[in-house]
Amino acid sequence: MTSDPVRLGVVGLGRAFALTAPAFAAHPGVRLVAAAAPRAESRRAFETAFSGRTFESVEALCADSDVEAVYVTTPHGMHRDHAIAAARAGKHVLLEKPIAVELDDAEAIVAACESAGVRLIVGPSHSFDAPVEQAAKLIRSGELGRVRMVQALNCTDFLYRPRRPEELRTELGGGVIFSQGVHQVDIVRLLCGGLATSVFARTGAWDPERPTEGAYAALIDFAGGVFASLTYSGYGRFDSDGWQGGVDELGRDKDPGLYGAARRALGAADDETALKAARSFTSMAETPAASHHEHFGPIIAFCEKGDIHLTPDGIEIFGDERRETRPAPFRTARAEVADALVAAVRGGASPLQTGRWGLASLEVCHAMLESAESGRPAALRRQIGVPS
Ligand SMILES: NC(=O)c1ccc[n+]([C@@H]2O[C@H](COP(=O)([O-])OP(=O)(O)OC[C@H]3O[C@@H](n4cnc5c(N)ncnc54)[C@H](O)[C@@H]3O)[C@@H](O)[C@H]2O)c1
Repeated sequence: MTSDPVRLGVVGLGRAFALTAPAFAAHPGVRLVAAAAPRAESRRAFETAFSGRTFESVEALCADSDVEAVYVTTPHGMHRDHAIAAARAGKHVLLEKPIAVELDDAEAIVAACESAGVRLIVGPSHSFDAPVEQAAKLIRSGELGRVRMVQALNCTDFLYRPRRPEELRTELGGGVIFSQGVHQVDIVRLLCGGLATSVFARTGAWDPERPTEGAYAALIDFAGGVFASLTYSGYGRFDSDGWQGGVDELGRDKDPGLYGAARRALGAADDETALKAARSFTSMAETPAASHHEHFGPIIAFCEKGDIHLTPDGIEIFGDERRETRPAPFRTARAEVADALVAAVRGGASPLQTGRWGLASLEVCHAMLESAESGRPAALRRQIGVPS
C-alpha cells in the first residue's frame, strides 16, 4: 500500500479540507497530488503544504491524468457538477456530505458514478468515527441481542459559526438539517440497520437574524420495529460536549473559556463571508490536533441485553449487573475515511457510505422538513440496509 498511494486531487480548499487534510497527510496510502481552487492564496497554501500541482478550474484538475480520485469539498450546491465532472473523467469520488441538496441531484451523481464505473464515497461523515463502527459491529454481532431504540443528541454552536449567505437559506441547503442532521441520520441509520420507514419531525428556526433551521427533533421508524429519537440544537447555549467528557466534535479537549466564542467572534466581525474564508485551509500548522475520536454528541443504543454509550474514546456497555469500557484505538482524526478511500480505490471494497447510502440519508433530511411542514409523518422510499 505504501509503495502505491492513492493519488488524490481536491476540489475546494475551504473549511472541510482544512479539517480532513491531516488525515490524508498522515496516511501512508494516500498522497495529495493536486487541487483546484479559485483563490490564489489557497492554491499557494496547497502547493507549499503538499508540493502538489494546482489549477483554477475543476475541469483542469479532472484532465490531470495522474489524479486517480477526487475529493469534492465545495459548497453543497456545487456537488452535482463537480462530482459528475470527476466521474466522467474516470476519477473515483470522495464527496463531502450532504451528497447534494436536491434528491434529483443526488440521483444524478449516483448514476454518473455508476455509469463511469468509479467508486463514490460520501464523507467524511461522523458515521466513519471509530466508536460508531465499533458500536455497529457489536450490534451486528448479536452479543447484546437486537437493537431496540437509539437516542442521539447534539447541541453545538453551529448556527453562529461564520457562514456563507446560502448556508442560512434552507432552500439552498442551509441550516442544520442538511449540514448536521445528515451526520446524525447517517449514524442512527448505521446503528438501526439502515432501512428507515418513516419520519415524524419538528424543526425550529428561532433566530430572525439567521432565519433557517437551527434545531430539530425527529422520531424515525426502522424496519423490524426499531426506532430512534434525534435531537439537535445549533443555538450555542447548552453544550452537550460536557456529556462527552469535555471533548469537542473534532476530538480535542475543550477549553471551557471558549464558551460563547462563536457568537462573540461573529458579533465582532464586519464581514461574515470573509470570516468564513479565514477558516479555510492555510497550512498544516493551522489544523487542530485531536487526541480523541471525533464524535457527534451523546448517542445511546438500547439493545435487548444491554445499552451502548458511544464516547470519544470508544464505547461503554451497560449490562444487567456490569458496566464495561471498550476503547477504540486512535490514530489521527478521520483516519477511517482515508482507510475507506484506499480500500475503495485499491481493494475495490466499498465502504457503507456509498452514493446510495448518502442519497438515503439525504432523503431522511428532506422527510424531516416535510414532516415539520405537514405536521404528519413522512414516508421514505429510497432507503437501503446495512450490508450484513
Ligand atoms: N465533514 C466535515 O467535517 C465538514 C465540515 C465543514 C464542511 N463540510 C462540507 O464541505 C462542503 C464545503 O463546506 P465548507 O464549510 O468547507 O465551505 P468553505 O466555503 O469553507 O469551502 C468551500 C471552498 O470551495 C471553494 N470553491 C468555490 N467554488 C469553487 C470551484 N468552482 N472550484 C473549486 N473550488 C471552489 C471556495 O473557494 C472555498 O474555499 C459542504 O458541502 C459542507 O457540508 C464538511
